[in-house]
Amino acid sequence: MSSKLSEIKHVAIIMDGNGRWAKKRLFNRIKGHEKGINAVREVVTAGREYGLKALTLYAFSTENWNRPETEVKALMSLLKNFLVNERNELNDKNIKLQAIGDIDKLPEKVRKELEITQDLTSQNDQMVLSLALSYGSRDEITSAVKKIADKALSGELNVSDIDESTISGELYTKDLPDPDIVIRTSGEIRLSNFLMWQAAYSELFFTETLWPDFGKEEFHSILKDFQNRERRFGKV
Ligand code: FPP
Repeated sequence: MSSKLSEIKHVAIIMDGNGRWAKKRLFNRIKGHEKGINAVREVVTAGREYGLKALTLYAFSTENWNRPETEVKALMSLLKNFLVNERNELNDKNIKLQAIGDIDKLPEKVRKELEITQDLTSQNDQMVLSLALSYGSRDEITSAVKKIADKALSGELNVSDIDESTISGELYTKDLPDPDIVIRTSGEIRLSNFLMWQAAYSELFFTETLWPDFGKEEFHSILKDFQNRERRFGKV
């Protein structure tokens, strides 16, 4: 792998298109999510190989709670199984797993497996895999504003000292660099409430590929493409 890929620290992915993948094959939607897990595994392995420091996957949004109960249950069950089945492999690969989002809303059985996996991998330092679960950017920013307001009211913080780092420091992602790249699969061209503060300067990549068909070749070609883009951060 080219050493230059090591300039890329953080990639975030909106994994979209599981349902359409299944529909095209006359399967039910759950089958698409099941297939999506294989793509998750492949991308995590590739990200680690490419030397990424952080990989963030949008696995379940605050809006996804509005899906039919059977689909929500199936997704929670897939998530639980993923944690149980993959935690040793993640640990062997020196990957630290964390969840970002309103975790208290998740079913107890998922929270338990999350906790076990987070504890097991907490000392790992090669890559942080963040699963965005019950995650919404507006929700995250609203919580941050409340925490900052509380600190200001209690006198712990002067309003005049509030700056961008105060806000970044209250987000779920406070320990992560901002994403260099945000990828969305399945041809939809929007951020859907994902990392809206953090992605202010990210390069955005949209691909028609449905998530279950996304793999390491396409991932690699996006990372190579990124290196050819010139990032100016508002400067000339
Ligand atoms: C979007 O496809 C995908 C999701 C809402 C869930 C993503 C979940 C997985 C890939 C599996 C579980 C993940 C982990 C990390 C264990 P969609 O259902 O919105 O597809 P559609 O837009 O084609 O209907």
